[in-house]
Amino acid sequence: MSVRRLAEDQFQPAAFAFNDENAAWADKTIQKYPAGRQQSAVIPLLMRAQEQDGWVTRAAIEKVADMLDMAYIRVLEVATFYTQFQLGPVGTRAHIQVCGTTPCMLRGSESLMAVCKSKIHHHPFERNADGTLSWEEVECLGACVNAPMVMIGKDTYEDLTPERLEEIIDTFEAGNGASIKVGPQIDRHFSSPEGGPTSLLTEEPKAKKVSAKKAVEEAVTAKVDAAPVPPSEAARAKSTDAETNAALKTPVTAPKAAAKNAKAAEEQPAPATAAQVAAPAKPSLTDKNRPAGIEKPATLDDLKMISGVGPKIEATLHEIGIFTFAQVASWKKAEREWVDGYLNFKGRIERDDWVKQAKALAKGGEAEYIKVFGKKPR
Ligand code: FES
Repeated sequence: MSVRRLAEDQFQPAAFAFNDENAAWADKTIQKYPAGRQQSAVIPLLMRAQEQDGWVTRAAIEKVADMLDMAYIRVLEVATFYTQFQLGPVGTRAHIQVCGTTPCMLRGSESLMAVCKSKIHHHPFERNADGTLSWEEVECLGACVNAPMVMIGKDTYEDLTPERLEEIIDTFEAGNGASIKVGPQIDRHFSSPEGGPTSLLTEEPKAKKVSAKKAVEEAVTAKVDAAPVPPSEAARAKSTDAETNAALKTPVTAPKAAAKNAKAAEEQPAPATAAQVAAPAKPSLTDKNRPAGIEKPATLDDLKMISGVGPKIEATLHEIGIFTFAQVASWKKAEREWVDGYLNFKGRIERDDWVKQAKALAKGGEAEYIKVFGKKPR
């Protein structure tokens, strides 16, 4: 942001007064605001003063301050803050504000400024020889989507090339600025895509009807392609054909099936999806990685205190001789994988960190569990 100061004294007129039309308009504008809030009219009044004289003079600032019962410094603050207010004389036919903020800069605003330098003046705020044109660089003017752009008066000219800006400057200099179409200077309606809209058309393409089965097959194929499953994991996963077949009974449109499958894919761990391709096999009870079981002790640990173990899982663990927290806490990776496969848990033992939970419970029961996890066990 450049430093904004009032113009040198040599440019400042001795006094300012609204002409009759503008004075009547100013009175009406001030009355729009509630009693005690007339100062809210400061920006409209400054803008009207600028439109009348071409720029905001010190005398105009003081006049507006008097009209609104404001301190001069308060109005000066407003005038110097907004780049819409010109604080010195500018071109009588056009003052070109070139946006130099990042999107416009990336799309060529520097070449637009080069045009201004060559056609108007090398320095911003300096007028051309006839006093008809001037330019400056400003911050984002809110039309980034059609960058690069310039603002002249109250209008924006967007999607510019250096050649098009030259034509616009020449037209303004000739006094025919009003003849130029404002907004995008290419085949674009407002901020729509070039060449016309591509979405929210009145007629959307019809959704292709396919069976849910085909959609599921496509989703499974895509999932398998995207995340190959190691053969050992695939072999462990349990078939969910029953669920899949239930889903296949009702034909749905392709988008619906795709959404359903995407949701299912999110909810199912990778091995479960692979199970739709190849039926898994339960790990053998004689596998060397099966954790060692023990005889049922007189006092059992409540394995259900481990997050992820419910009554059914606890019963299954008992069947294979797992009764204590210490047993679970001692499982090595291969043993965890065996149990995970046996329970068709799809990685849950690792995700819930059964070993860490069991270690805490074995060491100090609920109190130790709270110490480690900051919450009670189930
Ligand atoms: S960056 Fe130029 S209009 Fe926003």
